[in-house]
Amino acid sequence: MPHDDLLRWRGEFPILATCTYLISNSLGAMPRGVYDRLYEYAETWATLGVRAWASGWWDLKSTVGDKIAPLLGAPRGSVLVHENASIANSILFSALDFSDTRRNKVVISDQDFPSDVYTLRAMLPSHMSIHTVRSRDGITLDTDELLAAIDERTRLVSLSHVLFRSAYILPAQAIVEKAHRVGAQVLLNGYHSVGVIPVNVTGLAVDFYIGGTLKWLCGGPGGVFLYVRPDVLPTLQPKITGWFAHQTPFAFDVEHFALREDAYRLANGTPGIASLYAIQPGVEIIKQVGVEAIRDKSLRQTALIIELADRAGYGVFSPRAADQRAGTVTVHPDHAYEVSRELLARNFVIDYREGAGIRIAPHFYNSDDEIRQVMAAIAAILDDGSWQQHAKGRSFVT
Ligand SMILES: Cc1ncc(COP(=O)(O)O)c(C=O)c1O
Repeated sequence: MPHDDLLRWRGEFPILATCTYLISNSLGAMPRGVYDRLYEYAETWATLGVRAWASGWWDLKSTVGDKIAPLLGAPRGSVLVHENASIANSILFSALDFSDTRRNKVVISDQDFPSDVYTLRAMLPSHMSIHTVRSRDGITLDTDELLAAIDERTRLVSLSHVLFRSAYILPAQAIVEKAHRVGAQVLLNGYHSVGVIPVNVTGLAVDFYIGGTLKWLCGGPGGVFLYVRPDVLPTLQPKITGWFAHQTPFAFDVEHFALREDAYRLANGTPGIASLYAIQPGVEIIKQVGVEAIRDKSLRQTALIIELADRAGYGVFSPRAADQRAGTVTVHPDHAYEVSRELLARNFVIDYREGAGIRIAPHFYNSDDEIRQVMAAIAAILDDGSWQQHAKGRSFVT
């Protein structure tokens, strides 16, 4: 068994002592440093009161954005933290110019996170149409079909960098190159990439890149980051906006509104400051561990899951090719939903996605033994029939 240097971080994550936590694609484990940061938040509020705004709170969305930026290869000042992807996407879509009626097409896929599509549909002017590229196998998207869909009529390509069900890594470079060749812009959703696979938005020259802090960055709910390529930012005219995006908010001038020229151009109103504190310990740890080391380990552990699933005869709904697979493996034993419920009852924390199966998502703090244990537990649950007790109803949150 290889010596696993990254296991030294386990002590930083309290939940790892209480269960087998294999769900970092949904909610990364909380670093113990969050206790201190939230205490610091409370102390700042308690002692400085309203003066906290001037002492750092006002700029915190970009201060934290700057801390996240190196993890996606973004320059300082190009990343702003928002509350969630749904609002950040809505702001971004509201800011794009759709006035060229010859470019009336937006390319998406049927494997995108649905909320991305809900917000897109809600914000698109009526002359725009959505072209949906469909997966043939529920795991990947056909690259030729995807690239062919991006043509001279395309205004925007909005896709997940890594698919949330299968962890398939899309060919981002080819997508951006094709889109730019035909004059379209690209938004990638990196919720399932940043923190677990290397990402370089500058090298990609992608126009917009969004991702969340709560999964692979262990930053908790309430934080997503939105990168806008610096030369594209001045072209954005958000319709969803607010006084935090104003150059002189304290002029309280009802008649005039001048958008800021930096990342705050896409801000709106008063942010949830507490989560901006909570995000930071996870981001700092991921930077110290290093995404290259995380990726090496992740590839080894996801390969192990696939090997054990193959041996047991379970379906595998994630790519087998290492260069196409991010941090999660979705396995489909018989009775996958019921098995997933019994795994939870036995303190193996995983999730289940309809149309895919049980998602197993190890992070740098998980051991190979934990992977062997969860796979052995699936076999035991099928053998002893204990999955049957969960056959009656489905819970709302899976
Ligand atoms: C790919 C992807 N995008 C977005 C989200 C969440 O969106 P929001 O931040 O709006 O809650 C998730 C959550 O699981 C996701 O997997």
